[in-house]
Amino acid sequence: MKLLTKNKTENPYEWIVLPLLSWYQQNARILPWRENVNPYRVWVSEIMLQQTRVDAVISYFNRFMEALPTIQDLADAKEETVLKLWEGLGYYSRARNLKKTAEIICRQYDGRFPTDYHKLLSLPGIGKYTVGSISSIAFGLPRAAVDGNVLRVITRLMENDRDIADEKFRKEIAGQLEEVYPENECSAFTQSLMELGAVICVPNGAPKCEECPLKSGCKAYQNNSWEKYPVKKEKPKRKKVDKTVFLLHYQNEIAVEKGSDTGLLAGLWKLPNVDRKLQIPEIETWLSENGLHGISIQKGKKVKHIFTHIEWHMQCFEIECRERSDVFEWVSADDLEGKIALPTAYRKCLNS
Ligand code: ADE
Ligand code: SF4
Repeated sequence: MKLLTKNKTENPYEWIVLPLLSWYQQNARILPWRENVNPYRVWVSEIMLQQTRVDAVISYFNRFMEALPTIQDLADAKEETVLKLWEGLGYYSRARNLKKTAEIICRQYDGRFPTDYHKLLSLPGIGKYTVGSISSIAFGLPRAAVDGNVLRVITRLMENDRDIADEKFRKEIAGQLEEVYPENECSAFTQSLMELGAVICVPNGAPKCEECPLKSGCKAYQNNSWEKYPVKKEKPKRKKVDKTVFLLHYQNEIAVEKGSDTGLLAGLWKLPNVDRKLQIPEIETWLSENGLHGISIQKGKKVKHIFTHIEWHMQCFEIECRERSDVFEWVSADDLEGKIALPTAYRKCLNS
């Protein structure tokens, strides 16, 4: 068999092709989208399989194909019909994008999937993985489809501890795999990698290495280190900040102040606040430090606001002041509504 080896330097995956293909030939599960293969069926199955297990997908796939056997049927269907067929699968944007893409293909491409990489990638709901799977499984092109299953197999084979969430790493793997795609067997090669990840080098619990066609060259097998791979770096946790926020009232006015020029919410207005939880005696101290006296101090609502890297846990206090202080700006409710750029985090504290 001729491999599409373009690269003179050794490719780390060349050796996996033949054992994987022969294993797949004998062990591929019989699945509905592997029968009567066409781009429409491959596409719909790949979209369904993206967030859902194979067992759960089978009956949805069969029902979908019975109701909408061609891409034109999908393009002509009511969105409600498509959503109903999707009911229970979750992630409903997948169903909406499926319909949008069907409409585009019927309108712009005469009902036939484009094979061009960038044209495919531009369709709603179709990312790099789906381009790879449609291209290889339906068109027989040497394009890799690197999903979680494939990454697990690859990182274990090589004891590679790169972060699998890293887009650059996925791209490198795809590039290296594409160099060794076997001519005329592109569909089987893509599916053999996925299949090995799904049934042998499994995601939960110990891989079935004794049955694995790649064990002779697998580093994780040699060193019994499968548990360390794949490596997925935790997203950094958001920092939590406690705040005490003051709703300082004097007659019909409320105190605001201009935020600092740097940092989160730079240059916007804010409600007077401190970055920790204060008790009533500390609040009284804070008031006098700011030239104020509270006639009444009432605990107000608790408000949480989430930014990308930080979350604020705010305890509000409603305070009637005996007089204004020029530490702050005092504005009417109308101005606060209409003129002052007050970030949402603070707006949520109002009307408590
Ligand atoms: N997971 C994603 N694509 C698949 C396919 N074609 N067959 C089995 N499992 C899959
Ligand atoms: Fe995965 Fe084991 Fe096969 Fe290595 S030998 S690829 S760890 S199943």
